[in-house]
Amino acid sequence: MAAKKIMVITALLLMVFLLQDCSKKDTTPVSGDNSVLNLPATAYNYSNINYPAHIAAALATDDNTPAGNTITDDGATLGRVLFYDKHLSVNNTISCASCHKQENGFTDNRQFSLGFDSGLTSRTSMNLLNLRFYKSGKMFWDERSTTLEAQVLQPIQNHVEMGMTLGNLVSKLKGLDYYTPLFTKAFGSSDIDTIRIARALSQFGRSIVTYQAKYDRVKQGLASFTAAEAAGEQLFLNAPGPGGTPACGNCHTPPAFLNSNAPGFALMDANDQGIENMNRFKAGSLRNITTTTNLFHNGSVADVPTMLGSRIPSHGVAPQDRATILAFLQTLTDNTVTSDVRFSNPFK
Ligand code: HEC
Ligand code: HEC
Repeated sequence: MAAKKIMVITALLLMVFLLQDCSKKDTTPVSGDNSVLNLPATAYNYSNINYPAHIAAALATDDNTPAGNTITDDGATLGRVLFYDKHLSVNNTISCASCHKQENGFTDNRQFSLGFDSGLTSRTSMNLLNLRFYKSGKMFWDERSTTLEAQVLQPIQNHVEMGMTLGNLVSKLKGLDYYTPLFTKAFGSSDIDTIRIARALSQFGRSIVTYQAKYDRVKQGLASFTAAEAAGEQLFLNAPGPGGTPACGNCHTPPAFLNSNAPGFALMDANDQGIENMNRFKAGSLRNITTTTNLFHNGSVADVPTMLGSRIPSHGVAPQDRATILAFLQTLTDNTVTSDVRFSNPFK
């Protein structure tokens, strides 16, 4: 009797164990399987967006799109598939979206990101909002990549991030049926090469633009700021920082809240001197920044309220100004970009 009970219990435990094991497997399907790629019959619109005037004006002066790679609907669609395809990593575990998550404004809210082999990146992931408004086109915290087209191939070859070679990448994509029609539509023939891969990923990246936040409705006269938000905007644009440092808006310039001429400030960091080892760093777009954690190049600043209350030069502000500036920054959050199907995972 006792022996039977033990057998039954053992059998039950075994079942529980096996079930757990299955559910673990279920949470990590190999993305990129043709059967689960779900694209609309007609490509979504990426190329012809009717941006409000304040966005269109900035685009006219700041856009880093090169003449040879303007956004097309089919080009950005291919870029979207590549962005979400785990086949871009050596062991099919990581896609660009693993570290640039749409729901987090295309960052991952971690201090350092996990690569294909569980290694950690040495800097914090950057948001990918409004990349095309960074006029110089330079990418990464230290601006080491001179264009977006050059940048997008770097994570694929990075030993921590995706661990591939470009040769390996091209032959792997050639072996996946669904890329033949996607490359043909995007570029007129089914040839797959790294230049096309870089162009498509860049088109997708440049299509991620925030223009539907409260801030944007106010600029179009469709909404108004509260008193605190309005006061916060004035402080942000005009109030000099302690010691006469420039106002926030000099370095984080509206409407994308970035400025490729002003990567002058650095959070002092003994391990990382950034641009040309001069303690300078790029700052990405401040859009959606109040929903982001692990700020600055080393992810060491928990969030915006922590930053405003800190002693970081140009970034810690007087106690009476903190809530006001925060209220203004909250109006920059665009909840459309984080849910828009055009930027979502097509492998579903
Ligand atoms: C393992 C995590 C990880 C993966 C995978 C990854 N990235 Fe990143 N990404 C980062 C980190 C970390 C940085 C900042 C690195 C630095 O500055 O040295 C970054 C920076 C960037 C930037 C620069 C943004 C700017 O404003 O300068 C772009 C663009 C970008 N990634 C696009 C991509 C694309 C496209 C892919 C897929 C081909 C990808 N990333 C895959 C973690 C990742
Ligand atoms: C002199 C230029 C300059 C001024 C003035 C400035 N910033 Fe920055 N800001 C930067 C740079 C450069 C970084 C990135 C530095 C780093 O990573 O070490 C940054 C980072 C940030 C970040 C984190 C961004 C991220 O993606 O992690 C926030 C938020 C921010 N600034 C807000 C503000 C606010 C609010 C003010 C005014 C109170 C301000 N900044 C003033 C240049 C400036």
